[in-house]
Amino acid sequence: EFMARLKKTVVMVGMMGAGKTAVGTALARALAVPFLDSDEEIERAANRTIAEIFARDGEPFFREKESQVLSRLLKGTPCVLSTGGGAFMSEANRRMIREQGVSVWLKADLEVLWQRVRHKATRPLLRTPNPRETLRALLEARDPVYAQADLVVESGEGTVEQMAVRVREAL
Ligand code: S3P
Repeated sequence: EFMARLKKTVVMVGMMGAGKTAVGTALARALAVPFLDSDEEIERAANRTIAEIFARDGEPFFREKESQVLSRLLKGTPCVLSTGGGAFMSEANRRMIREQGVSVWLKADLEVLWQRVRHKATRPLLRTPNPRETLRALLEARDPVYAQADLVVESGEGTVEQMAVRVREAL
C-alpha cells in the first residue's frame, strides 16, 4: 500500500555533510521503501572506497561511474536514493533525475556543513591545505545548481527524524 504511493524515486541532493544519508535513511523507513546510496553502490561495484577511486583513477572516472550508477538505480523500483554532493552538478545527471525521480535539496549553510565534515578525513575533495575554504567555495558554486531541485528542505533545524517528516510532507 505504502510502496504504491511512491511513484518516483526520491533523490536526495546537497552538499557533503547536509545529512542526505541520515535523512534519506529515516525517510525510506517512514515510506517503507528501500534506501540506496550512490556512493555505496559505486564502492561496491568497484570494490574500493571513494577515496581510493579518486586517488587511483581520478575524479573524471568517479563521475563516470556515478552517472552510470544513477542511471541504473533510477530505472529500478522507486526508493529513496542519496547521492554524492557532486552528482547534481552534471547537466546529464540533472536531466535523468528530473525525468525519472523527484529531487530534494537538503539545504545547509557553511557553518552547519563544516561542523559535520571537519573531523571526517574520508572526503577526497576536502583534502586540501584549507578545507574550510574549499568547502566554502564549493558551496558557493553549487548552491545555485542545487536550487534547481524540485523541493528544498532546510537541514540543520531539528533532528534527523524531524527533517525526514518535513521531506515527507513536501513530497
Ligand atoms: C562529493 C561528495 C561525496 C562523494 C565524493 C564527491 C562531492 O559524497 O560523492 O567524495 O563532489 O561533493 P557525500 O556528499 O555523501 O559526502
